[in-house]
Amino acid sequence: MDSHRRVRHALPEVRWPTEEEAAASPWFSPVSLGRTVTAEQRTWVPAMVPWRATEEGFVTRAVLDWYGRFARGRPGVIVVEATGIRDVPSGPLLRVGHDRFLPGLGELVETVRRESGGRTRLLLQVLDFLAIRRRPEPAKFFGRFLAVDAALRERMAEADGNDSWRSAPETAVRERLAAADRATVERVLSPRDLESLDRGYRERVTDTHLAHVRELPRTLPGLFAGAARRGLAAGFDGIELHFAHAYTMASFLSPLNTRTDGYGGSRENRVRLPVEVLAAVRERVGREPCVGIRYLGDEVIEGGFRGEEAAWFSVRFAEAGADYLSLSKGGKFEDAKTPRVGEAVYPYTGESGHECMPTVHSDERGPFGRNVPLAAAVRRALRAAGHGIPVVTSGGIHSFEQADAILRRGEADIVAAARQSLADPDWFRKIRLGRGKEVRRCEFTNYCEGLDQRHKQVTCKLWDRKFDRDDPAIARSSDGKRRLVAPEWDGLPPD
Ligand SMILES: Cc1cc2nc3c(=O)[nH]c(=O)nc-3n(C[C@H](O)[C@H](O)[C@H](O)COP(=O)(O)O)c2cc1C
Ligand code: SF4
Repeated sequence: MDSHRRVRHALPEVRWPTEEEAAASPWFSPVSLGRTVTAEQRTWVPAMVPWRATEEGFVTRAVLDWYGRFARGRPGVIVVEATGIRDVPSGPLLRVGHDRFLPGLGELVETVRRESGGRTRLLLQVLDFLAIRRRPEPAKFFGRFLAVDAALRERMAEADGNDSWRSAPETAVRERLAAADRATVERVLSPRDLESLDRGYRERVTDTHLAHVRELPRTLPGLFAGAARRGLAAGFDGIELHFAHAYTMASFLSPLNTRTDGYGGSRENRVRLPVEVLAAVRERVGREPCVGIRYLGDEVIEGGFRGEEAAWFSVRFAEAGADYLSLSKGGKFEDAKTPRVGEAVYPYTGESGHECMPTVHSDERGPFGRNVPLAAAVRRALRAAGHGIPVVTSGGIHSFEQADAILRRGEADIVAAARQSLADPDWFRKIRLGRGKEVRRCEFTNYCEGLDQRHKQVTCKLWDRKFDRDDPAIARSSDGKRRLVAPEWDGLPPD
């Protein structure tokens, strides 16, 4: 979609159902997630990273409050944010790469059980990602990060018409490049080094010259299996394998994965590792626990896969024992905007990012439910192949009528809402009680996503800002200005 063809869409008028209409809706009917887990409703809060873990990846009070708040809205399912499977530092992202994370995760499970009155099923999204660095200061890049090899010296000798660069001291090469004009830099640096200078260094699954990347097919199945085992030990109802967006497993699925070791190239090869990961998880935890997959119905980027291939993957995942498939769209590094110096490239800033979290600044189709056809295509492919596993759709879901119609038309089995649930975590409950008029409606302008981009504690701009700052019961963001969870619903009826 051309960004210059975007227009601002108004929030559609909506009609909220009566309590009886809501009770009769498929959205509020149960659904099985595999052999052992049944969600009471087909309402779903998909994974959202709120940046509230400790730097070491532990659950904090703020993490408990965040999920406890969603739980009071009693959705059928909450998926806990992307949680790292490795035991390596990764900033304030939750982690599940070691048993020491279990007590905190167990407390999270208990909190959601208690706050939802046992009504909400809780899944843990588990993730692997490759190294990514901030865009460097050019002086630092040329002074330290750039590898000075024979090929670079050769290009420099050619650019300057001066053979001495082939054997000049490394510091002289670095100093020359640091002082060079842009045209020279572009002639001398390899495309990959130029990208590292302009956007920050980023590893790819095709970097098989790096041993740890080459070995991913050997290491990842065990890492995912260990994470799944721990998640279930902590008491989660199930595990969601994060195969979407800009991260390692999604990159294996992508046609941009040209690995020649049997794990890249053809779609059969690209799906191999994801299927082996699922198999390893099944081997570790057994066939009974709920294990689902979130992946892309369309990568949106040039050279990426589209809906047809996503449908093909879905059948492979079902054959391999996935209990549900949750479809997302885009969210890739390849088309992300160039970050400022000192910031890292963020996969939700380009066209594919817009498709992942569409805003009211959209093309003529608007942001609302625009990803539903992808889920519908996947669901058709699954049913045609004889697989009945549920398909979750998300992206611009904002009203009861919309969710109800999607389910009645058979386009998906479960309808998820991230930002609308963030704006008003009670919205499912309000609708269920015939009090939809009280829903605080998301404006789909992505203030929350802007915070995520800067790795700041995510909040919603619609939450009350005039709260009593001296009230110790109201947790505030580190800058003291924002409340960390949505205000309570005054009208909440007793059970
Ligand atoms: C702040 C924020 C954090 C997110 N973090 C994750 C994540 O950890 N894993 C994931 O699969 N999707 C993540 N998403 C994407 C959402 O799950 C969802 O697919 C997307 O927001 C579109 O749905 P919506 O229109 O209902 O918001 C995030 C979205 C937001 C707004
Ligand atoms: S900050 Fe904006 S886009 Fe995000 S949940 Fe709130 S209203 Fe919606």
